[in-house]
Amino acid sequence: MENKSVEKTLLERRSIRRYEREAIAAEDMNFIYEAIRNTPTSYNGQQFSVIDVVSQDKKEALYEIIGQKQIKTCNHFLVFCMDYNKISKLAAAKGVEMPEFVDTMDGVTVGIIDASLALMSAMVAAESRGLGTNAIGYARTANPAAVSKMLNLPKGVFVVCGLAIGVPREMPDLKPKMPLSAIIHTDSYNDEGLVETLEAYDAEIKHYNATRAGAKTDNDWLNHILGYYTEACKYEILKALKDQGFDVKK
Ligand SMILES: Cc1cc2nc3c(=O)[nH]c(=O)nc-3n(C[C@H](O)[C@H](O)[C@H](O)COP(=O)(O)O)c2cc1C
Repeated sequence: MENKSVEKTLLERRSIRRYEREAIAAEDMNFIYEAIRNTPTSYNGQQFSVIDVVSQDKKEALYEIIGQKQIKTCNHFLVFCMDYNKISKLAAAKGVEMPEFVDTMDGVTVGIIDASLALMSAMVAAESRGLGTNAIGYARTANPAAVSKMLNLPKGVFVVCGLAIGVPREMPDLKPKMPLSAIIHTDSYNDEGLVETLEAYDAEIKHYNATRAGAKTDNDWLNHILGYYTEACKYEILKALKDQGFDVKK
């Protein structure tokens, strides 16, 4: 596979949802693993683990639970988890008391940040080799209990996000993002003119959705995203966290 510049890797990235049947070269996969391994993490605690789902049967079984056909058509489906099982096990083995960090909002935040950064390491590494990627958040939300069981996750391990990787079979148009003025603030937060900027962005996305290559819709940005939020209000993630041993109290 090609080696892309950092600029191309970052600025021409777009989610790829259709893949060739072709396998990913072992050398490319190894580079992705090493990029994951060298992810910066809070305290260097490395509060994450990755399940690399390669068996077609398992990918199809996960697809049955989660939906999202990319899970069964990709070559590798990586599931990024926050992981306090490792340090808990070592603490127990050495007879050291484990603080109740996993039961705090910050403990959960730390694990989610670490797993998310590891996902981004993998995404950038894969993209730089000309591979296509698609983050799959439904891996966390669709059915946490069933996914945890299928992946044999012990207590202290919780799915944060999936990542489908494969050789691209499509190259959709880049999705427009908000202008820098709505993203980068110099020295302090400033939302002057924000609504006007976002109204223009909303119209730009509506135009993109109506004219992009492939499936077209008449969605604008606001209503599309609010639709997702409304759906997501139904998720019972606090309960799912509890089931995996995270009894968040403060
Ligand atoms: C945390 C996260 C979860 C995502 N989950 C899904 C998903 O379940 N299914 C999907 O098709 N795309 C998913 N995406 C991809 C987003 O829809 C995509 O990144 C966004 O629309 C921007 O498009 P782009 O990646 O092409 O720039 C996810 C992205 C992120 C960062």
